[in-house]
Amino acid sequence: MLDRSAAGKNYHLENDLVIATHNTGKLREIQELIGGRVVHIQSAGELGLDDPEETGTTFHENAALKALAAAQATGKPALADDSGLAVAALDGAPGIYSARWAEKEDGTRDFGFGMEKIWDKIQNQDNKRAQFISVLALAFPDGQIFYTEGTVEGEIVWPPRGENGFGYDPIFQADGQTRTFGEMTAEEKHALSHRAKALRAFVKTWCSG
Ligand code: IMP
Repeated sequence: MLDRSAAGKNYHLENDLVIATHNTGKLREIQELIGGRVVHIQSAGELGLDDPEETGTTFHENAALKALAAAQATGKPALADDSGLAVAALDGAPGIYSARWAEKEDGTRDFGFGMEKIWDKIQNQDNKRAQFISVLALAFPDGQIFYTEGTVEGEIVWPPRGENGFGYDPIFQADGQTRTFGEMTAEEKHALSHRAKALRAFVKTWCSG
């Protein structure tokens, strides 16, 4: 358990939190999962903050650099998610490069293209196991950073199914499920997802009591 009193004593997360993301899918999920527990949530996009370059080599490093940049730019606590899809037959790729894998030559992101790229590489392999990973970093303007994380195990399916969610949701089927994340309602995905697990741990430590 974190010593919340040391880090958070000058801040009241219940009142103010910056969500350090420009990804609308992530932002929507984070807002849904934090619910009414934090009164004033602002996103990096709304605040006109730059999206820092993800120069880290781990989910933790990238989450930390995004959260810290937002905390220092605003003087408020900031929460960032770094997440991705790790495919076993690809030694964990695309992993921290999940968003970049969907980039076309002209720099635009197309997850249809990203999903095909994954399927091309694994379609002839028996092992279709994969996991989604989410690491959340909560940074304070004084530089302190705290992490929570969540994973969900499953497999890659083809063809993509479902219009819900975002990113690689249409090709990820969590263990024990017959539908992909792309076919689930937001509530159904939140009952299982990596980000929901990481956020529940965050809420438990920082938004209660
Ligand atoms: P980043 O954390 O901003 O580097 O981007 C993470 C990328 O991983 C997203 O753009 C998606 O492509 C993928 N990703 C992370 N979480 C999810 C999810 O819940 N569903 C589908 N794709 C996800």
